Amino acid sequence: MALARRMSRWARALLLACAAVLLPACGADGPAPGSTVIVFKHGKLFGDPAPLRALLDEFERLHPGIVVREQTLPASSDEQHQFYAINLQAKSRAFDVLAVDVIWVAEFAHAGWLQELTPQLPPRERSAFFAGPIEAVTHQGRIYAVPWFVDAGLLYYRKDLLEKYGLPVPRTWGELVRTAQAVMAREPGIAGFVWQGKQYEGLVCNALEYLWSNGGEVLSAGRVVLDTPRNREALTFMADLVHRYRVTPASVTTATEEPSRHVFGQGRALFLRNWPYAWRLFQDPRSRVYGKVGVTLLPHFEGGASAATLGGWQLAVNRHSRYPVAAGELVRFLTSERAQKRLALAYGFQPARVALYRDAEIRAAQPFLATLERVFAAARPRPVTPYYVRISQVLQSELSAIVAGLRTPHAALAASERKLRKILADEL
Ligand code: GLC
Repeated sequence: MALARRMSRWARALLLACAAVLLPACGADGPAPGSTVIVFKHGKLFGDPAPLRALLDEFERLHPGIVVREQTLPASSDEQHQFYAINLQAKSRAFDVLAVDVIWVAEFAHAGWLQELTPQLPPRERSAFFAGPIEAVTHQGRIYAVPWFVDAGLLYYRKDLLEKYGLPVPRTWGELVRTAQAVMAREPGIAGFVWQGKQYEGLVCNALEYLWSNGGEVLSAGRVVLDTPRNREALTFMADLVHRYRVTPASVTTATEEPSRHVFGQGRALFLRNWPYAWRLFQDPRSRVYGKVGVTLLPHFEGGASAATLGGWQLAVNRHSRYPVAAGELVRFLTSERAQKRLALAYGFQPARVALYRDAEIRAAQPFLATLERVFAAARPRPVTPYYVRISQVLQSELSAIVAGLRTPHAALAASERKLRKILADEL
């Protein structure tokens, strides 16, 4: 009896061991109902989670036997990066599909953490997407993620207040400051201009927009060119917004996307720099700024041209996923034209597929697209390199010292230039 019990324990253990080895190899992606659970990891959504879940339910209906479990990470790109760097490095199989920031694909692909997806996105299908994200998901000629939605920096403004004081929408940074000061003088409790000044990735996105809109650069022909007169002038302006013109509150040093969106959304600021998602949230009739918001290109310096940082998220498959086929199917489904349209309407995610910019429903929901489509097409990528996060960490700490008024732009740019040259020299 005892022997029989021991035997059956052995038999069970053997069976389980065989199943563990055989299932992935023999198509556990297959149709057995309930047998394949794919975990989809993505950052916290700004808005109701139901529309994304409805899409996933639809995917499950179309793929009997596959169940998709969602797991969310904090909204901040930096925190998500930390999670992935630790877990992918450790060859975790705890998640299959992941949403990756446009700046990480080169690093993750270089490290061998992502499944190659070239067959999902053969060359003839790539022109359906914006060029910037396609460049970002391509590593050594191969595709490692599929663009999901794009971001580009925009200027939100209080239409009602500009109309009240007969002021035009500013085109240059100088005009923005003068307009903000004029309105602040007459509207107590209103901040002039809120943006993202915390020490994190968003600050790099904001700072690049100042540099680029003054004709400045970070890299030129592969060389770091940070400590230049144009860059110094642009970052002096960034610090002056807080310390000299006082149109940006000192609390900007703690602001990420959502806190700055809340300040503006509560009617406490005239101008806001943010990504497109904010538009849909201001269109909620319960929002205090409902019907009072306009959106336009970011301003530029005299003689410069408006510049928006390219952001956005892509879907990739964990190289160590047990279910690469099913995971790849989910990526295909969620990045399809239909899914991108649903997500654009539900979350204000700007489609990465160009054709959707002609879609009547999306245009009706986002009337600014008629004039701002070119902002998305022309948005500028941050340097596409496997070492981007190291570069960004240097910039984040130096830029944050500038915003806090602790370092001059000249000192911070010179130090960043030295450190970045070293990173690039070490890595190349
Ligand atoms: C948005 C962008 C992303 C960027 C991040 C910075 O999520 O899509 O590319 O890195 O903001 O906070």
